[in-house]
Amino acid sequence: MIERNFLFAPSLLGADPLNLAANIDSLGANYDWLHLDIMDGHFVRNLSFGPEFSRALRKRYPNAFIDVHLMVDRLEVILPLFIEAGASLITIHAETEPHLLHASLSMIKNAGLKAGISLCPPTPAANIKSVLDLADLVLVMSVTPGFGGQKFIDSSLDKVRELVSFRAVNKHNYLIEIDGGINEKNITCSIFAGCDVIVMGSAVFRNENPGLWLAELRAGIKEAMKNFGR
Ligand code: DX5
Ligand code: ZN
Repeated sequence: MIERNFLFAPSLLGADPLNLAANIDSLGANYDWLHLDIMDGHFVRNLSFGPEFSRALRKRYPNAFIDVHLMVDRLEVILPLFIEAGASLITIHAETEPHLLHASLSMIKNAGLKAGISLCPPTPAANIKSVLDLADLVLVMSVTPGFGGQKFIDSSLDKVRELVSFRAVNKHNYLIEIDGGINEKNITCSIFAGCDVIVMGSAVFRNENPGLWLAELRAGIKEAMKNFGR
């Protein structure tokens, strides 16, 4: 049996803004991607990082896989700023200017980056069927976007299962990422449901030793996968 892989993407929104580099370094080699939440105070009711932060992150961590999650309106202005700012992958929301979804995904891919599509909790997976062939990743929001530390919405895993089945039926290649309210209690069932990439903010950075916590979590999940034949 081929062992399924899963990736950890700690969200910097959950880190201490005055100690970001120290917080990233505290992860050691126990993370896969760095998740960067971009909020514009319009698409969501919060503000976070700008393109200069993304650029600085790339400079300081040249080999990191930087996973940018754009929760913004006015994609025609914001997207080019982040395409030039060191991202490895950029995810845009299906709800942001849906008529531009195809063009925006193509713009990301034409720049040589990976492209993702995100769905807010009320948005059905079927809404993005026609653009799934362009997606390297589909991000399922498991909380209302805007803030860290919220409670996981259980029905999100039904959407994950649906995306697993679309992918199999249509021979797509996208990874499925889950974002919001993930912790040690719900991570294993999220991976069993089909999530490939796990974003975690508060659950990671509230720990005294985030790197050790991630290492132990990874080992525990691998053990559970073995025991349940996943
Ligand atoms: C929410 C963000 C998430 C957030 C996750 O809008 O997209 O990435 O940082 O934080 P936790 O893991 O605390 O829910
Ligand atoms: Zn996010």
